[in-house]
Amino acid sequence: MFDKAFFKALNITSDSSLRSFSKSVKINLTKLRYYNEKNIFPSHSDFQAINSITGISELELKLNMGILDKNIINLIQQHSNNIYGIIKNTEKNKPIYNENTKPTLQFNTDLGKLFQGDCLQLMDSIEKESIDLIFADPPFNLDKKYESGMNDKISDDEYLQWTEQWVLKCIDLLKEGGSLFIWNLPKWNTHIASILNKYLDFRHWIAADIKYRLPIKNRLYPAHYGLLYYTKGEKPSVFNEQRLPLQICRHCAGDIHDYGGYKDKLNLKGINLSDIWLDIPPVRHSKYKTRGSNELSLKLLERIISLASNEGDTVFDPFGGSGSTYIAAEILKRKWIGVELGSTESIINRFNEIDWQIEYIKDVQRNSNTLFTEEMKNKRIKHNHWIPETLSKEKVISKKKEKQMALELSSNSEN
Ligand SMILES: C[S@@+](CC[C@H](N)C(=O)[O-])C[C@H]1O[C@@H](n2cnc3c(N)ncnc32)[C@H](O)[C@@H]1O
Repeated sequence: MFDKAFFKALNITSDSSLRSFSKSVKINLTKLRYYNEKNIFPSHSDFQAINSITGISELELKLNMGILDKNIINLIQQHSNNIYGIIKNTEKNKPIYNENTKPTLQFNTDLGKLFQGDCLQLMDSIEKESIDLIFADPPFNLDKKYESGMNDKISDDEYLQWTEQWVLKCIDLLKEGGSLFIWNLPKWNTHIASILNKYLDFRHWIAADIKYRLPIKNRLYPAHYGLLYYTKGEKPSVFNEQRLPLQICRHCAGDIHDYGGYKDKLNLKGINLSDIWLDIPPVRHSKYKTRGSNELSLKLLERIISLASNEGDTVFDPFGGSGSTYIAAEILKRKWIGVELGSTESIINRFNEIDWQIEYIKDVQRNSNTLFTEEMKNKRIKHNHWIPETLSKEKVISKKKEKQMALELSSNSEN
């Protein structure tokens, strides 16, 4: 903890110096450790106390902590020539790659290639600006056990540094107009978004409603994963509109919302997909669960790939896991590149059992981009609710009735 920016800036180098600093500024140890651990700038009154004892200015402490407010960025820009003069000859850290994690080709199809190894190393070997769509679902640093044996409990700093490395490489690989989707916990997505905002165009923060933890005391119930969606350049090359069936009552199949006289104006292809996804299932069913607890639903990948790429485009996912992205890309006739640090056996097995997954994706497609699925229609007919076909009949009948009434009225008035 003494190598972190906050303590370093204040010259706190040991437990004893921390204790004496705490006494002199009258800020308790827990709070000082919190500022240091999370790299959070102290509150106004705490900073006043620190400043009165150490004399450090706000600007100096912020620069030390790497907290670059807009104001500081303006100052850096004003003095950029001088700053550049100072740092231009500093050696850029070259990555030192491990020979053991050098990617090797494990499996391929006519459309795709699967490597085993480190995604950072693989990305260095892929041609820049050659990928149409990237989806990434990295480990979340939650101390999960991965088959690859990777360390999933590193410091926040280390995790964010590593994240920045792979995110920047993904950005380089993306074609102009290409799309990048990143799936992570909201906590990490706030940091990832701040990297992406500098290079790509923000389109959406999609909230996928999936309960992934038990409620925690003194916190809201975490119930969504964040799916960041960015494009290179202002306009995506591909945006295939996706629509969903109308939401209806699970029990009586009736309308949940009142559409009044607008029922016949609803698009028969379904309701516009919003940025809150309520229909992504966790992978629980043993038939569909092919691996550990990290497997994402093919429904999610089908949607992303259909939305942001066309047949023949190239899809890349740097974190293979159970290979959901590669399976979905293969079935949807996209070219794909995959890599997994750990064993690729379960991904390859999954390709050997692709048939049921083809059926699953067909089913997902049958049940989207339509206002009512066949099952919904049958249920609604059974419960005497409208469906588009009966609406047009109702309309014809009421038009006929109107005409008849008009005739009757005119004949009455003549008599
Ligand atoms: C959250 S899982 C991905 C799950 C995947 N989306 C699916 O649906 O099956 C993350 C995966 O990334 C792998 N991984 C971690 N670091 C990696 C690296 N540097 N290069 C390649 N894969 C890595 C882990 O072994 C793990 O299988």
